[in-house]
Amino acid sequence: MNELQFRDVPESDVDRALELWWLVFHDRPDEKEKREYHRAMVLRCDRVGAYDGDALVGFLVAHRFTLSIPGGELPCPGLTFVSVAPTHRRRGVLSGMIAELFRRCADHARPVVALWASEAAIYGRFGFGAGTYGTSVEIDSTRPLALRVDPDRRPLRLIDADDAPAELGPYYEATRTRRAGRIARDSVRWRGEWLPETDEDDEELGPPRIVGLGAIDEPLAGYAIYRTRREDDRAKSGTVQVAELEADTAAGEAALWNYLAGIDLTGTVRAWGLAPDDPLLLFAADRDQVKAVAEFPALWLRLVDVRGALTARSWEAEAFLVLEVRDDRVPANAGRFRLAVSPHTCTYEATAAAPDLSLDVRDLAACYLGGTEVRRLVLAGLVTEHTPGAAAALDAALRTAELPHTADEF
Ligand SMILES: CC(C)(COP(=O)(O)OP(=O)(O)OC[C@H]1O[C@@H](n2cnc3c(N)ncnc32)[C@H](O)[C@@H]1OP(=O)(O)O)[C@@H](O)C(=O)NCCC(=O)NCCS
Repeated sequence: MNELQFRDVPESDVDRALELWWLVFHDRPDEKEKREYHRAMVLRCDRVGAYDGDALVGFLVAHRFTLSIPGGELPCPGLTFVSVAPTHRRRGVLSGMIAELFRRCADHARPVVALWASEAAIYGRFGFGAGTYGTSVEIDSTRPLALRVDPDRRPLRLIDADDAPAELGPYYEATRTRRAGRIARDSVRWRGEWLPETDEDDEELGPPRIVGLGAIDEPLAGYAIYRTRREDDRAKSGTVQVAELEADTAAGEAALWNYLAGIDLTGTVRAWGLAPDDPLLLFAADRDQVKAVAEFPALWLRLVDVRGALTARSWEAEAFLVLEVRDDRVPANAGRFRLAVSPHTCTYEATAAAPDLSLDVRDLAACYLGGTEVRRLVLAGLVTEHTPGAAAALDAALRTAELPHTADEF
């Protein structure tokens, strides 16, 4: 075997890179439109290839995303299309491509990388930790939805999918930074990922439907994107599959859930990947009717530059701690650092002082957006607390008003 080379994938190699991706994911993109969509997407991304001589044996891309973090946002490569030729697996191809990506992040001041894992076992070794979680919910809507809050009484209106990016986009953007973990969406992303005519994962679902809260001449106060599945067997009722539901207030959320649960000829509402602290789980009056059926790691994060990542976010409380960080892949992150934070300042400098906490960079990534408590990682034996109270102090500083969340899978 030749020595592998890890380098940019030029436009002239993008077609064979996509062939490799379809090969490893056992996909067969018959439609010309789908092929062109993926090709255009890949061309907008940063690309890393692994070459064995002239043969392209590994491929990954990084979207050029903007990620909301506590108190602001960061440019954030979104890693995806990760593919290694079946002839070259377990020879360090993925490891080499990730090392090349991390090098590029250092060169371009990109302190955080994000991904969604198709297999959760792969990415911890590269220093990724689950930064957000999703909760899937199933509602028995054969009877009226029992709620403990009064739904907002403003009118609901259906929005045409073609108009949705223009109508929902400004609302989403204005509320995006309320929760960390969210990705800015342009109209291409709205149309291609949130509003395609057919749901790639379940072709039996109908087209996207959008309901907005608020009269036509009022600003939008919330929306839901959903699809329905009809049942040909009349004895059974159909399903409402919710992609996203956003509202300004709990009453607004209640109005939208009420609407979804009341759609005729359906008996189940399913929502995939809600925030674990979604108000529905509290204001549902009957938790036998509204069941959380799964919780899963959603957005994985890698702090490629720990100092850059920590100094970019805001903090909820003061903390003065020495962190001892392990990082096998990015040596600049490893060592002891004095973290001094107050709500709007953060310094993080190398020190020889004794550590208050010792932790792996993947566990720091899990805590970065406030989605996992350091104390829980101490209890799990993953973080060592040398100074009693250090984990609680870091948690108080990391805490966010709402848990980080995204359902923007990529
Ligand atoms: C998953 C995949 C990218 C791994 O590529 P690879 O080049 O074989 O990985 P490497 O040789 O660099 O392995 C790096 C490490 O990850 C481990 N690893 C690789 N794939 C793994 C998997 N699926 N599950 C658990 N561990 C895995 C390896 O054992 C190795 O461990 P080590 O560092 O302890 O020795 C490749 O098998 C592939 O393309 N699979 C199909 C597509 C896919 O699943 N992509 C991931 C999308 S999120």
